[in-house]
Amino acid sequence: MSVDARHRLLAWCRPGFEAECAQELSALDTRFGGGGYARAKPGEGFVEFVALDSDLAGHIAEAAGAERPIFARQLMHGIGRIEELPRKDRLSVLLPLIASDERRWCDAWVESADSDAGRELSALCRALNGALIAGLKRKHAIDRDAHWRLHVALLSPSQALVCATDIRASAPWPGGIPRLRFPRGAPSRSTLKLEEALLVLLDEREREAWLQPGMRGVDLGAAPGGWTWQLVRRSIHVTAIDNGPMDAALMESGLVEHLRADGFRYQPPKPVDWLVCDIVEQPRRVAARMAEWLRQGWCRQAIFNLKLPMKKRYAEVQLCLDLLRDRVDGTLDLRARQLYHDREEITVFARRA
Ligand SMILES: C[S@@+](CC[C@H](N)C(=O)[O-])C[C@H]1O[C@@H](n2cnc3c(N)ncnc32)[C@H](O)[C@@H]1O
Repeated sequence: MSVDARHRLLAWCRPGFEAECAQELSALDTRFGGGGYARAKPGEGFVEFVALDSDLAGHIAEAAGAERPIFARQLMHGIGRIEELPRKDRLSVLLPLIASDERRWCDAWVESADSDAGRELSALCRALNGALIAGLKRKHAIDRDAHWRLHVALLSPSQALVCATDIRASAPWPGGIPRLRFPRGAPSRSTLKLEEALLVLLDEREREAWLQPGMRGVDLGAAPGGWTWQLVRRSIHVTAIDNGPMDAALMESGLVEHLRADGFRYQPPKPVDWLVCDIVEQPRRVAARMAEWLRQGWCRQAIFNLKLPMKKRYAEVQLCLDLLRDRVDGTLDLRARQLYHDREEITVFARRA
């Protein structure tokens, strides 16, 4: 039996994390009464979720837009599914299907998964994207002021799921992946994790207000200094805690104090604006330490990684987030995401309101 594409949602995710992404979508579905099911294969880099009806799919998409799932880089609501795209003229099938939706689109992206199979479709995506936009313009379906974005997700050379997102509540990058360049002078590649976290977990106004020159931060597990470097480039003073050596050029900035101490025992002499932590440790131990810093008011806000080498990754994440909510009194602003630069881990932002 074929299911109407409007019952469907498509999420891009990190290959290998399809099960966690599916669990997260099922949890959202349950909130609205349930009945849907996920279709995911390990390593494909996407999850298709089939809701009971199109209204439910819409509710899930809306809730995900407001709350932003941890494991879905982008969550899109289906419009149509095509099983046999003619190789010589894919637009001949795509354009009539898109025209059956009355919306106008601010933009249109042809995308594929972040997997080996998906990357093989990248050249086709690029070629098709130009032709698609030209075709939509001819039909006056492009309106730069519209708030809907069209996504053509190529699942294979002949299969596509055509979807929509609301640009006010979705990732502004194709595939949900911000393409960041490795900054010259940064001491380690993991600098990109904190750069992406600041870009994805905070909005522009928050970055402006919360990352001010002259602020103070602590970096637990800092060496060689990629995360510290991100704070220093914003003229924030950093106490870097690690038994390992820090990058010499970074130390010359004069903004870093390096202490060879245990990150799980260190306490700041005065409260600081930022705590960041990239220590490879059991996630519950990290979460408990972060909760202690926030509870004691030793930091105003924190960004930290939770490493997930275990089997039950989704359950572990929920446990850590619950632990933070339980231990930090008052309202806790908690945002968690598996970033593009994250591997077997997620990144969390936490701030006491
Ligand atoms: C993934 S690396 C951090 C990389 C760093 N964020 C960067 O961008 O360059 C983890 C670091 O945590 C440090 N570490 C591990 N256990 C620690 C502890 N208990 N206290 C302080 N540092 C610790 C290690 O020495 C290592 O340098």
